[in-house]
Amino acid sequence: MTRMRAAIVGTGDVARLHAEAIAARDDAEVALAVDLDADRAAAFAAKYGIPRSATSLPDGHLDVVHLCTPPAGHVAQAEDAFARGAHVVVEKPPALTLHDVDRMVAAGEAAGRHLAVVFQQRTGTATAHVKRLLDDGHLGRPLLARCDTFWFRDDTYFAAPWRGTWANEGGGTTLGHGIHQLDLLAHLLGEVDEVHGQAWRLARDIETEDVSTAVLRFQSGVVATAMTSAVSPRQVSSIRIDTELATIELEHLYGHGHANWRITPRPGADAPSSWAFPAAERPSGHDAYIDAVYPALAAGTALPDVASAPARSMEIVAALYASSERSAAVALREVRESGELRGPMSAQVRDERRS
Ligand SMILES: NC(=O)c1ccc[n+]([C@@H]2O[C@H](COP(=O)([O-])OP(=O)(O)OC[C@H]3O[C@@H](n4cnc5c(N)ncnc54)[C@H](O)[C@@H]3O)[C@@H](O)[C@H]2O)c1
Repeated sequence: MTRMRAAIVGTGDVARLHAEAIAARDDAEVALAVDLDADRAAAFAAKYGIPRSATSLPDGHLDVVHLCTPPAGHVAQAEDAFARGAHVVVEKPPALTLHDVDRMVAAGEAAGRHLAVVFQQRTGTATAHVKRLLDDGHLGRPLLARCDTFWFRDDTYFAAPWRGTWANEGGGTTLGHGIHQLDLLAHLLGEVDEVHGQAWRLARDIETEDVSTAVLRFQSGVVATAMTSAVSPRQVSSIRIDTELATIELEHLYGHGHANWRITPRPGADAPSSWAFPAAERPSGHDAYIDAVYPALAAGTALPDVASAPARSMEIVAALYASSERSAAVALREVRESGELRGPMSAQVRDERRS
């Protein structure tokens, strides 16, 4: 079997999850580690047994380029990788603007290569089980939902040069953190029609928001609230979906297995056996994501649904920011169609800091 040759570009915090996931596969190897910081790239290569490191992509054949760089660089790096004939696996958020996501998708299509955006919360056997129950109508019609990301990121975290500004990060905690849970909610419940949201700055010395609040209306009629925070000492990520027949709850931090989920029947009813989680368990994570995506990259077949709709959760975030700017609800249709809303994101951030 010829092993796919991958490069990891950006060898900072998240890159190790990519290196470990590829190392666990028989059909692929990381052939190259790239970072602007030569010493960091070399140390990363040494740690993960990667034969070569560099400060930019050298000439030579690569099957997959993993972009683990700050989001401002993703569009140019993806276009470069596609021009070299490689598939691209890119960390969230895929870019700073929806226009740039369009460019990345177009470049992939023109090259006949895949663009896979990493939203690893969609993976794992629990999500697949709950999605199947919802899609097949076993839980009745979904009615309302709650989607919360309460994380804690201090000033040191935001001191990284690419964080906390519209120009370098494209958004605040909603785009950087809440997007995972929002993406999972939309993966389970489908397209969002409208967002009415507010961006808040409650504690951190940043230009973007450290908290956001929103009401989402889904095409299916589901109504949801979403709170995202970077200032919450007890950290938790959670989703609650109330359907006609059950309450689905997920409580975790960064990844989830079956024990993080609960499906409760309505009062007086028993849970049917079909609701039970399968015996075989795979937690969510980068490894599960790469295991789902790599066979499609190798075979040139369609990407699985854990990597579909690369712009969906970014559109929700863009609508939230536009809504905060306008103090009014914003339709996702407008975000999809408006050149203005596909451009640089910004929000009127309500500053409630007190000295
Ligand atoms: N999916 C997840 O759970 C998850 C978790 C953390 C971060 N992320 C995302 O991963 C990306 C990187 O985040 P991080 O926390 O690893 O950042 P980081 O700052 O720790 O690492 C980024 C690395 O990229 C390098 N770099 C910057 N520009 C480069 C370029 N042009 N060429 C080569 N190397 C370059 C930097 O030197 C640095 O080593 C971001 O988009 C972030 O949102 C995703």
